Amino acid sequence: MTKLNVALIGHQFMGSAHSNAWRQVGAFYDLPLEPHLAVVCGRNRETTEAAANRLGWAEASTSWEEVIARPDIDVVDICTPGDSHAEIAIAAAAAGKTVFCEKPLANSVEESRAMLAAAEKAGVLHMLCHNYRRAPAVALAKRMIDAGEIGEIRHYRGAYLQDWIVDPNFPRVWRLEKSKAGSGALGDIASHSLDLARYLVGEISEVCGMLETFIRERPLEDGSGMAPVDVDDAALAMLRFDCGAIGSVEGSRFCPGRKNYNRFEINGSQGSLVFDLERMNELEVYREEGANGGFRTVLATDPSHPYVEAWWPPGHILGYEHTFTHTVLDLIHAIDREELPSPNFGDGVRNQCVLDEIEKSHESRGWRQVEA
Ligand SMILES: NC(=O)c1ccc[n+]([C@@H]2O[C@H](COP(=O)([O-])OP(=O)(O)OC[C@H]3O[C@@H](n4cnc5c(N)ncnc54)[C@H](O)[C@@H]3O)[C@@H](O)[C@H]2O)c1
Repeated sequence: MTKLNVALIGHQFMGSAHSNAWRQVGAFYDLPLEPHLAVVCGRNRETTEAAANRLGWAEASTSWEEVIARPDIDVVDICTPGDSHAEIAIAAAAAGKTVFCEKPLANSVEESRAMLAAAEKAGVLHMLCHNYRRAPAVALAKRMIDAGEIGEIRHYRGAYLQDWIVDPNFPRVWRLEKSKAGSGALGDIASHSLDLARYLVGEISEVCGMLETFIRERPLEDGSGMAPVDVDDAALAMLRFDCGAIGSVEGSRFCPGRKNYNRFEINGSQGSLVFDLERMNELEVYREEGANGGFRTVLATDPSHPYVEAWWPPGHILGYEHTFTHTVLDLIHAIDREELPSPNFGDGVRNQCVLDEIEKSHESRGWRQVEA
């Protein structure tokens, strides 16, 4: 089978999740191409070599430029903070590589547009890692919506809540620096809720947003003093969709007890769907017809449910890591078919425009239209 040589840039949280996906995918699914974990790239020689051993990469490198210049590399998988996505992705595209990039696509609309333009100019395939689209229960919700099972969509209510920075003494890590992360809870987690909104309901035409930073100064990671926090701790927005639905998204890292509460509720003319990542194998379904007065819980582990067939018998549940494996699976098939996967950099630009208008709406305290 033809090999697909992958280079991973960044090897911590997402680097581990992506490595696991590249390693696992061929063990469970029949693939048209064989992914080879060719090289992992980091900034520090020792930790990158340790990561290569731990995560199963053949080689370690401390220069993404050298990795991208290698003719044997087919896919560049970007798992670094947002401030380096554009530079790496544009160089990778120019070198003719397929580019797979973590979300949010970039730290600004301009950067995201430049990334899309570079990929289109080079004629390479590109994909954005909004992995929650590929939780089986979410893909099932999409299938049900597309089949008209809940009728015309009227409401989308998305929330992505965490609590890891409630403590004011938690250090000012890169996610709390605008120059590195672009924004706070907005780009980090509300971006996932917005991507699910676009995936499940459709394009967002107008937003009215509100941002708040509760703790404006935090200790530096090395303990040498305090530093400002210049991103939002919480983001909230009302949404209007092209299809006529209305909605809301909330992203916050200040919700004690909420660890990774990524939830949506969608109400249509014929029924409702509810998903909560912390119970990710379940989809709550209410249908006007035959509802017997309440929601029922569908355990999305049946072989007929999306992505499930290759895994375990019904009821043998899947986890967080499978969302990445399913993403990589679809990327490999897209490469084989030479088709643009989804979501791609075009979705990234659109998401970035929504994020940008939410920030502008917060500043102007008014509604903003999202450019088509
Ligand atoms: N899809 C998701 O659900 C999800 C979840 C978490 C993070 N993310 C995204 O993934 C990206 C990375 O986040 P993370 O949580 O893995 O961060 P992290 O801090 O855990 O890891 C970042 C990695 O990037 C490396 N790095 C930074 N600059 C580099 C450079 N110039 N060259 C090579 N390596 C470099 C660091 O050494 C580190 O290995 C971000 O864009 C983030 O928003 C996505």
